[in-house]
Amino acid sequence: MLLAMVCPNSIIRVWFLTLVLCGLLLGDVRSGRATARYRDWGEPGILMPTEKEGGDDSELGAGTRWAVLVAGSSGYANYRHQADVCHAYQILKKGGIKEENIVVFMYDDIATHVLNPRNGIIINHPQGEDVYAGVPKDYTGKDVTAENLYAVLLGDKSKVKGGSGKVINSTAEDRIFFYYSDHGGPGVLGMPNMPFLYAGDFIEVLKKKHAAGSYREMVIYVESCESGSMFEGVMPDDLNIYVTTASNAEESSFGTYCPGMDPSPPPEYITCLGDLYSISWMEDSEGHNLKKETVKDQYKQVKLRTSNFNTYNVGSHVMQYGNKSMKQEKLYLYQGFDPASINLPPNKLGFDALLGVVNQRDAELHSLWQMYKRSEGEMEKRKEIFREISNIMKHRVHLDGSIETIGVLLFGPGRGPAVLGEVRDSGLPLVDDWKCLKSMVRLFESHCGSLTQYGMKHMRAFANICNNGISEASMDDACLSACFGREAGHWHPSNIGHSA
Ligand SMILES: *[C@@H]1O[C@H](CO)[C@@H](O)[C@H](O)[C@H]1NC(C)=O
Ligand SMILES: *[C@@H]1O[C@H](CO)[C@@H](O)[C@H](O)[C@H]1NC(C)=O
Repeated sequence: MLLAMVCPNSIIRVWFLTLVLCGLLLGDVRSGRATARYRDWGEPGILMPTEKEGGDDSELGAGTRWAVLVAGSSGYANYRHQADVCHAYQILKKGGIKEENIVVFMYDDIATHVLNPRNGIIINHPQGEDVYAGVPKDYTGKDVTAENLYAVLLGDKSKVKGGSGKVINSTAEDRIFFYYSDHGGPGVLGMPNMPFLYAGDFIEVLKKKHAAGSYREMVIYVESCESGSMFEGVMPDDLNIYVTTASNAEESSFGTYCPGMDPSPPPEYITCLGDLYSISWMEDSEGHNLKKETVKDQYKQVKLRTSNFNTYNVGSHVMQYGNKSMKQEKLYLYQGFDPASINLPPNKLGFDALLGVVNQRDAELHSLWQMYKRSEGEMEKRKEIFREISNIMKHRVHLDGSIETIGVLLFGPGRGPAVLGEVRDSGLPLVDDWKCLKSMVRLFESHCGSLTQYGMKHMRAFANICNNGISEASMDDACLSACFGREAGHWHPSNIGHSA
């Protein structure tokens, strides 16, 4: 298969699972299609006389609920991240969180994209409804930046550039829900406009927000490759913040509902519709009464589903950080409560099938390859797609190769690869000096071209260069030698900006 040829390391596998795994666990085997089953098990419940219609909401207090939703990518091959974020908006909106209290960051190039088969519509599930209608365009296009995100979180309107100007103007009574979906790498999350979002900066913003006394509690959900590394060893447990991430500090996260997989999107789609961790929490929220389900229940279910039912074969380890006592709280405190869910159970596993998934980093190639397969008879188009795939592959090979060379130049041929690849013990941050990490990235990009979404995976190498006390001067020499004479072309940072 060609994909295997152009992409030898990819972990793309298709699952056609007929085993009704969870059904078996629950002694509740049902036949029928695996998809969209999560809506099916809301048998009408019988309210106990003591139970208030709508459940108890005494924990809510006088506070306001706020949310920040961030899709960190752009481009049709990344359809799924903006679909995730639009879907999250709809859940919160149905849950009664007010639009004025939800700030949305999305590039907004998907709904009307020339490749979008349903103009003006975005879906997040193969049989899903439109999730795009009504999503506020707070920060779109060039305004989706890490700087704007920090200003919004801190409620600092004076620092916001462009956009709607909406900020999280929260008080000490309020709760905040933060959800992010995109590509990432060790210690970084992607943004559609450079630079990336660095863990060191993000945690500083959270500490500042806490010091300002401007929230009561916060729940953070992050989907990206190596998302655990954003918090590992750097997230304090005394900020009244509870975090879960799609993956641990050293593994990919996964796109799902991808063409050619099971379940697959409608045939006209050549891109993945969602991400495994993201659709897991959202489909879980939609299937339950959030006045009864706890944050912990959701964590457990999302962890099980994101591991692809403890196979971890294709699937990742959902992690938790920060104040873990908070997870006893009910979900509606963060995601709201949809009155239509009143009779849904508080906690029941409704998924019964493994999902076909693709490694986030290979999703773009997967889309192009699907396009190629569908372009039979269109010679020009086929050539163009091949050129694009091969350009992407060449830049990847160049990035991998030059980082390997730099490792050899700095640490010698014996130690180089081991030093760059070293994973620190859990509980330790990726890097001690985040400023050093950024300068090393900038030096590399100046000589070798932009890291791109794919190159984010090499952040650990730069971190280890810092952790081993390499000076900027030595790094500069090494990058210059490794990439001497290389024309970065389209990937030159003067075209797309530095990622640090
Ligand atoms: C923030 O909220 C306070 C009231 O709590 C209000 O006086 C102020 O104008 C708000 N600021 C912004 C930027 O919306
Ligand atoms: C964690 O959260 C609980 C519940 O909100 C709180 O009682 C406790 O003091 C918090 N722990 C820390 C270390 O802040």
